[in-house]
Amino acid sequence: MPLARSLSVTSLSGLEEWDEEFDLEDAVLFEIAWEVANKVGGIYTVIQTKARLTAEEWGENYFLVGPYVESNVRTQVELIEPTDPVLKRTIDKMNSSGCKVYFGRWLIEGSPYVILIDVAFTAWSLDRWKSELWELCDIGVPWFDREANDAVLFGFLTAWLLGEYAAQSEEPPHIVAQFHEWLAGLGLVLCRHRQLPVATIFTTHATLLGRYLCAGNVDFYNNLAQFNVDKEAGDRQIYHRYCLERAAAHCAHVFTTVSQITAIEAEFLLKRKPDIVTPNGLNVKKFSAMHEFQNLHAQKYMYLHLDFNLDKCLFLFIAGRYEFSNKGADIFLEALARLNYLLRVNQSDVTVIAFFIMPARTNNFNVETLKGQAVRKQLWDTAQTVKERFGKKLYESLLVGQLPDVSKMLDKEDFTIMKRAIFATQRQCQPPVCTHNMLEDSSDPILNCVRRIGLFNSSADRVKIIFHPEFLSSTSPLLPMDYEEFVRGCHLGVFPSYYEPWGYTPAECTVMGIPSISTNLSGFGCFMEEHIADPSAYGIYILDRRFRGVDESCNQLTSFLFQFCKQSRRQRIIQRNRTERLSDLLDWRYLGRYYISARHMALAKAFPDTYVYVPHEPNSTSGFRYPRPASVPPSPALSRHSSPHHSEAEDNDEDERYDEDLEAEKDRVNIRQPYTTPFKNKSSA
Ligand code: UDP
Ligand code: G6P
Ligand code: GLC
Repeated sequence: MPLARSLSVTSLSGLEEWDEEFDLEDAVLFEIAWEVANKVGGIYTVIQTKARLTAEEWGENYFLVGPYVESNVRTQVELIEPTDPVLKRTIDKMNSSGCKVYFGRWLIEGSPYVILIDVAFTAWSLDRWKSELWELCDIGVPWFDREANDAVLFGFLTAWLLGEYAAQSEEPPHIVAQFHEWLAGLGLVLCRHRQLPVATIFTTHATLLGRYLCAGNVDFYNNLAQFNVDKEAGDRQIYHRYCLERAAAHCAHVFTTVSQITAIEAEFLLKRKPDIVTPNGLNVKKFSAMHEFQNLHAQKYMYLHLDFNLDKCLFLFIAGRYEFSNKGADIFLEALARLNYLLRVNQSDVTVIAFFIMPARTNNFNVETLKGQAVRKQLWDTAQTVKERFGKKLYESLLVGQLPDVSKMLDKEDFTIMKRAIFATQRQCQPPVCTHNMLEDSSDPILNCVRRIGLFNSSADRVKIIFHPEFLSSTSPLLPMDYEEFVRGCHLGVFPSYYEPWGYTPAECTVMGIPSISTNLSGFGCFMEEHIADPSAYGIYILDRRFRGVDESCNQLTSFLFQFCKQSRRQRIIQRNRTERLSDLLDWRYLGRYYISARHMALAKAFPDTYVYVPHEPNSTSGFRYPRPASVPPSPALSRHSSPHHSEAEDNDEDERYDEDLEAEKDRVNIRQPYTTPFKNKSSA
């Protein structure tokens, strides 16, 4: 009896219900990516956050396939024996033929099975496989391209794995294999060439050429149709990679990408229009808004320069792969310089601290930063000493049955200790812009830009910059917190990307209730624009980088930032509450349906005798949109009076969920949201 499995996606507080009857029979799902249990960027986030839902749907028949990296396995994977006998035979067979293939459970939510392949172990086959690739499709991979070499090894090994799995199965299996990004694409091409019983999906999270062209200051979106793709790829010495990517896109039964905007890009640059857009979701847990972390950062870093009011301090940040202009760090810096000017001439008492979390090559923390650490430690120790002495006096007084005389609890000596500690912390220099020693200090784009705009954290500056050229980690001695904790402690995420197929960073902000700035050139920004009537009222600011020049976009960004600085605490609290309400829209429990459709479509194409795919019909012509929040002006840029009973005196009120917000929430829940098909025209409000 074949196992019958199907998944029904239920309604999420108002989002449309979705039920697709589809019998998976005995199908087996392999999902293949270089970022399986191997963090590089957003693709890792896709796979890691989606695992739970996919594992729920496919149970024992779901396998993630990635590269074996020892340090990752040590911390994230429990190696075990495969339970599925077919898979066990497959892996044993490969391991006795000169491969090293591991099996385990990835220790994340859903604990999916992972098959990890040590590509270096099979490097002895590289030359042979490269010639085979050349014979097969005239793609020549140069010896010096390390990543492409890995792609060749990984491709041949995954195709081997799937072929062996089919060979070891008693009956011809129904395999679905989803390959992510060009690095995994060759496996797909080989599956098709070898005519394996595999329904293939290729998902691109960016196009190689798009990323390269944009990074090179090209007017990308206005010239999409004009690029001579072969020449452009050749000029950038990525022709072989481009060929692998394009071959995978064309060989796939189903081709998908993460956003509408990347779908258009793929159509022009890879010459195939994606069959389905599969927007990236998150595994949304419900957190109660915990903004108490706020302020942690300043105390940690600006330990001395508290010549500004911490309570009037706003933390902004940008984070992600270090692609200076693609990620919009260039215009963020420029806008910060303009913001600094505006705050100064308006004599604002707000201080903005902008963090840049982008990994670059470094050789340690710098001395100033470490000194700062030491000084904080010293202050802490002093406080502990004084506390002890205080406690002792308190105890002694209670011991003799008397309430303490408060004026005598701290004596002269205590004050001397404390003064000494404070003096020790006085230092003349400004807090350093960069927390680490950079290896390429003189050519680093962020540092060079900071030098040009002159934002060196002087006490007169209302905007301070901290460049932390490393991803965050709770084991770091300097900023010991993980990324999520950090985000929760900030007021605004700023992601003014020029090239961003999706952009997880603003999405993550949203589900954590932190407002963000993204752009109408990012998949996320476009998606939110499509689904929310007034995104900025929900703390989703979308910068126009599509129809404006750089300088104009920069002005718009400056004005977003300046308006944000003018908000009162109360307004920020209202906005955070609204932001968090959008979480369901970004939950895999809602967005996972597009992946499900893609798999069904692929199965039906590859095995037409067993599966039929019926596209899910949209039940209305208009797409779902979150309405404007009740009784609120269109944008927080104008919303200084947005809360009905606002006055500055109330600014210190805490934790409010205002009535109008609760009303709005009710409105939202009552709305029917029709399913929007990926290629539908943008709906009207
Ligand atoms: N990220 C992280 N630690 C950090 C900064 C960022 O883990 O200190 C993660 C972030 O959570 C996000 C990913 O890096 O999931 C970046 O993905 P995104 O889609 O924004 O960009 P990509 O790097 O894929 O272009
Ligand atoms: C109050 C609220 C918190 C908020 C904090 C500071 O304590 O209860 O939720 O985080 O104010 O908010 P702010 O935006 O001024 O940092
Ligand atoms: C890519 C894109 C990023 C996207 C991620 C996950 O790395 O650069 O925008 O969020 O893939 O799809």
